[in-house]
Amino acid sequence: MDNQPSSSATRVAIAGATGRLGRLVSRLVEESPDFALTAGIGSQGDLDELGGADIIVDVTLPHVSPRIVDYAVAHGVNVVVGTSGWSGDRIETLRRTVARAPAVGVLIIPNFSIGSVLATSFAAMAARFYDSIEIVEAHAATKIDSPSGTAVRTAELMGAARSELGPVGAPHADQRARGQQVASIPVHSLRLQGIVAKQDVHFGGVGEVLTLSHETLSPAAYEAGILLALRAARTARGVTVGLERLLDLRFRIPGDPPAGRTSDGGTSGQAASATSA
Ligand SMILES: NC(=O)c1ccc[n+]([C@@H]2O[C@H](COP(=O)([O-])OP(=O)(O)OC[C@H]3O[C@@H](n4cnc5c(N)ncnc54)[C@H](OP(=O)(O)O)[C@@H]3O)[C@@H](O)[C@H]2O)c1
Repeated sequence: MDNQPSSSATRVAIAGATGRLGRLVSRLVEESPDFALTAGIGSQGDLDELGGADIIVDVTLPHVSPRIVDYAVAHGVNVVVGTSGWSGDRIETLRRTVARAPAVGVLIIPNFSIGSVLATSFAAMAARFYDSIEIVEAHAATKIDSPSGTAVRTAELMGAARSELGPVGAPHADQRARGQQVASIPVHSLRLQGIVAKQDVHFGGVGEVLTLSHETLSPAAYEAGILLALRAARTARGVTVGLERLLDLRFRIPGDPPAGRTSDGGTSGQAASATSA
């Protein structure tokens, strides 16, 4: 297979190229003829090495990431952020910055695994139907931040999905063993050898428990999402958060009218189809 980049290849520079995720992104870029790797830096690199690329990928550390993103926005370069630690507050600040740079696109992708993103989307869909919800996430012992970015995002999306219903019931949340509350939902973080990434969202109902479970078995799970984000980053504008925004998540029950049409002949948006699901 000819993996030489084409002359029209999108130029990609990577911050965090020497790390685990950075090495994976580097390999994918080098193997894809529609991308060309122009630079890759680690902690000792100079940010200016990233200049001149069409897209900067940031896969560094939570305290480093804002500096990389600020550099990209200031230089008018679109950026894909895989680094965790981008809380809602941090993203709001970034939105204000990017609003002053309308030609720039920032994609914040807390999880490149399509299965994980689907699990988070299903959790947001289910959140309106349960008042008792808790998250248990497990990652490698080497992961320094907790809760994970995926757990924070899952909790925030569930909180937003049930905002009209108020906080979930989280009894005795003042006790440390009851986890850290995010959008009122208790999140419990395990840091264990041998684990890549696992997340269970437990929904307690009347006479039933629903558990949505996703496990990443190998970093190969990130490959499809990384390529999807890189391709979307070519034309991105503004701040986009989450791989789910790049996926077509419409769901239709067989026998229902085609999307956009209700059974009474009217038209409906995605919210109506979600309700019918
Ligand atoms: N979105 C996702 O799906 C996903 C998946 C896995 C991990 N992550 C997140 O991605 C991030 C990276 O994970 P990882 O496992 O690859 O971590 P890692 O192996 O520790 O790599 C961190 C990288 O950041 C670099 N770095 C540190 N300080 C820097 C600085 N000041 N300027 C430039 N580069 C700097 C390191 O360079 P040196 O080698 O020189 O130290 C290294 O290349 C973490 O936040 C992790 O939680 C996200």
